[in-house]
Amino acid sequence: MKLVILLLISATALLAANARPDPDFNPIRLRSEGRVGAFVNNCESWRLASEVNNFRSWKVVPEQCVDYVKSYMTVEVGIQTQYEYDVGTVVLEAIEYLNTVSPAKGKNDTWLFDLTDTLLSSLPYYSRPGANYGGNPFNETAFNEYIKEGNSPLVPNVNYLYKDAQEKGFKIVILSGISEDLRPVVEANLNKVGFAKWDKLILKYKPGMPTKDFKASERAQLKKDGFKVIGNVGDQWSDLLTGTNAGKRAFKIPNALYYS
Ligand SMILES: *[C@@H]1O[C@H](CO)[C@@H](O)[C@H](O)[C@H]1NC(C)=O
Ligand SMILES: *[C@@H]1O[C@H](CO)[C@@H](O)[C@H](O)[C@H]1NC(C)=O
Ligand SMILES: [Mg+2]
Repeated sequence: MKLVILLLISATALLAANARPDPDFNPIRLRSEGRVGAFVNNCESWRLASEVNNFRSWKVVPEQCVDYVKSYMTVEVGIQTQYEYDVGTVVLEAIEYLNTVSPAKGKNDTWLFDLTDTLLSSLPYYSRPGANYGGNPFNETAFNEYIKEGNSPLVPNVNYLYKDAQEKGFKIVILSGISEDLRPVVEANLNKVGFAKWDKLILKYKPGMPTKDFKASERAQLKKDGFKVIGNVGDQWSDLLTGTNAGKRAFKIPNALYYS
């Protein structure tokens, strides 16, 4: 009821501001830039709206939700954190799907994995005071320093999906916006947490290009090279929704810490 009133008030304000109403105006379709926080009066609803890509392009976790995100990521409810349960549920569903598909003979049918917060977690970075569980703006320098430490832990349970896809004979391709310069440390970090091999590890060798464009163009290239994506696993909608060859099925790994 409250939300309906809120939406009505904002729609009325917009109508008042423009004598002629925009026939395409639809509050649900508004992008969230500059508006994040306006409608956030419940952090669980905020997280859900973000997960399903209704809230987009937000730059920081709303101030009133930082403690909520911290609990979501770190407090055990039962035997795991809520985040771990949420990731585990997606992984189980992806394994269910994997059980229904097989790689075509003589082809390069692929499972595509994003890297950061899909295979390797950046939670230790986001729990530092400077990052404040996503409550502070992204600091690329500090984040790269974290990657260079080479100590990122596993995203819980995604390794089971990776291993099953590999054992079934799918090509494994990892596609990341992390700089090509960091390849040695990234490879060592993957090995350290148990990812021993892959068919391609594509890191960003076009420094000026926005990551989502880079990923879309690399997926198009993969298609040209015969690497047809069957399953696509990523924690950002830009991993899953942009460009071609985005997978017969995509699986969104939860991420309440940032949107990119
Ligand atoms: C970003 O991180 C670097 C390296 O840790 C630090 O020196 C710098 O002050 C940070 N910038 C901001 C705006 O916090
Ligand atoms: C599969 O990938 C390999 C290695 O990149 C390539 O040589 C081969 O032509 C590809 N096969 C098909 C059917 O696209
Ligand atoms: Mg990611």
